[in-house]
Amino acid sequence: MRIIFTFYLEKNQVYIVVQKNNKNGDLNMCGIVGYIGFEDVKEIILSGLEKLEYRGYDSAGIAILNNNEVYVCKEKGRIAKLRERIDGNISGTVGIGHTRWATHGVPNKINSHPHQSSSKRFTLVHNGIIENEDELREKYLNDVNFTSDTDTEVIVQLIEKFVEKGESVELAIRHTMSELEGSYALAILDKEDMDTLYAAKNKTPLLAGRGEGFNMIGSDAMAMISLTNSLYEIEDKEMLKITRNNIEIYTIYGNKVSREPYKAEIDASDIEKGTYPHYMMKEIEEQPFVIRRIMSQYSDENGNIHMEPEIIDSIRACDKLYIIACGTSYHAGLIGKQFFEKISGKPTEVVIASEFIYNMPLLTEKPLFMFISQSGETADCRAVLVKVKEMGFKTLTMTNTKGSTLAREADNALLLYAGPEIAVASTKAYTAQIAVLAILAAFVENKININVFQELSKIAYTMETLCDDKDNYKKLAEKYINNSHCFYIGRCMDYYVCLEAALKLKEISYIHTEGFAAGELKHGPIALIEEKTPVIAVITQENINLNTRSNIKEVKARGASILVISMRKLSQETDEIVIDDINELLAPLAAIIPGQYLAYYAALKKGCDIDKPRNLAKSVTVE
Ligand code: F6R
Repeated sequence: MRIIFTFYLEKNQVYIVVQKNNKNGDLNMCGIVGYIGFEDVKEIILSGLEKLEYRGYDSAGIAILNNNEVYVCKEKGRIAKLRERIDGNISGTVGIGHTRWATHGVPNKINSHPHQSSSKRFTLVHNGIIENEDELREKYLNDVNFTSDTDTEVIVQLIEKFVEKGESVELAIRHTMSELEGSYALAILDKEDMDTLYAAKNKTPLLAGRGEGFNMIGSDAMAMISLTNSLYEIEDKEMLKITRNNIEIYTIYGNKVSREPYKAEIDASDIEKGTYPHYMMKEIEEQPFVIRRIMSQYSDENGNIHMEPEIIDSIRACDKLYIIACGTSYHAGLIGKQFFEKISGKPTEVVIASEFIYNMPLLTEKPLFMFISQSGETADCRAVLVKVKEMGFKTLTMTNTKGSTLAREADNALLLYAGPEIAVASTKAYTAQIAVLAILAAFVENKININVFQELSKIAYTMETLCDDKDNYKKLAEKYINNSHCFYIGRCMDYYVCLEAALKLKEISYIHTEGFAAGELKHGPIALIEEKTPVIAVITQENINLNTRSNIKEVKARGASILVISMRKLSQETDEIVIDDINELLAPLAAIIPGQYLAYYAALKKGCDIDKPRNLAKSVTVE
């Protein structure tokens, strides 16, 4: 156990936050899947895990129940490695699996899931962090020989301990839940019961899926969607007893919960790569379609904007909008601020979630907090959501994931309709966020009379044209991005595009890339420019065209290799990438596309794992 002390100053008081952090078990960003039915479970679990691999890919493991024995196989690294290692002769109709993203502690085989109790009667996979594991070890498990030092092993040993004391398995699980402090999604096998799969949840995503002659659980719908789209949401502190024909949900006190399943609106083909070499490429090219789908989702029968009146009223009523987000979503938020201020005249501030929590800006009297999060699970955003709700403020989540934690916990939610985004690097969710922000701003108040739908229709077409030019981006990436550093420069809206394009390039190609406000170069960053340093300039805004052009000259004079992405009306003959003329305020929607492709091809050339860049995970559920 590590104790982290954080000091911070608020209202002239020094606060000390004490956080306990587990050495090896804090696996809050993992994926779990479980199945009970009549089919051979091996392939079902493995392909479920592959769908969840975006959540983490440091190690993976599987447990299969057969003839009152449990077969366990775990491997450091990708699921493909686990696949190779699994004994081909093993079969069974009940199983669980896990894919891990290690936050602290080495991602080794011992710490990988599943974990088993001493007698090996119980086998368990866990996504979450148990904060009081030391107390539990001391209170109940002094005589137990642990095989790993994960918090997860504490859970499985505790269940066994309570069963040994005479409790039924169900009671032992609920008893264990009542002892646990922290977060968990659990899937549990009892080798003495071939007909039941147990599960439990607290503060970590978990869904159950109902099928014909089988039932499942998974960290998200994607793990199950190829078999069923009939899903149950599971609330915190609920336990599930799942048989081949039944899903029973219980509260922690043992009361049966009656709940109807909902139909997941995901097409199984949405989560397949199809003929694309990578999900990232597929998702880049889905963007024009996503923009059109967003327009149809947010229009009424007359083609006018339609959005939840409560959401619109809450924005109109606030005196300032605070957009809270991380990473790519934060970059979309920066553009959103421009929409709210320029289109609707609503003062807006954008704050990185992890900064807000320890460095809160001075708030106005009637703020509204808007959380932008593709996954709807980002822990940094959730920490802010919890805090501002405690302070009594109104909240709104913009997310791609219906039923996600941030969607459920905010007062209102707005969906992105981007379809599942599987590649870790966000592309279509980013443009979806910008499109929804533009529609929202125009509906709240349209001070500049922009016809957002008309502009978005043109942009969807422009995006298609840009996607058609990908061979050009490939050549350009190979020619220009061949250095260990790269810079994007731009001003105003273009600067925000640069921040996002730089993030894309660095996260998937591992080339150090920064996005700079072009006018800031001479205040420091220009010192980094040397012979052949690639500098990519974005120019889509008429008012700053000449300024950025002169910044290009400054870096060119110092030896930089220049690549210009410009809008046709502002373009020069030597510009390498030209975007058809579109509305300047909405131009980031199109201007980012070459940046996404340049990142893709630079990473491809370096042989990087494009969809699963190192050290990252799709859903960042640790602070
Ligand atoms: C980068 C990327 C991340 C996410 C960030 C927030 O390509 O995807 O920067 O944008 O982790 O995630 P969400 O939007 O799920 O809150």
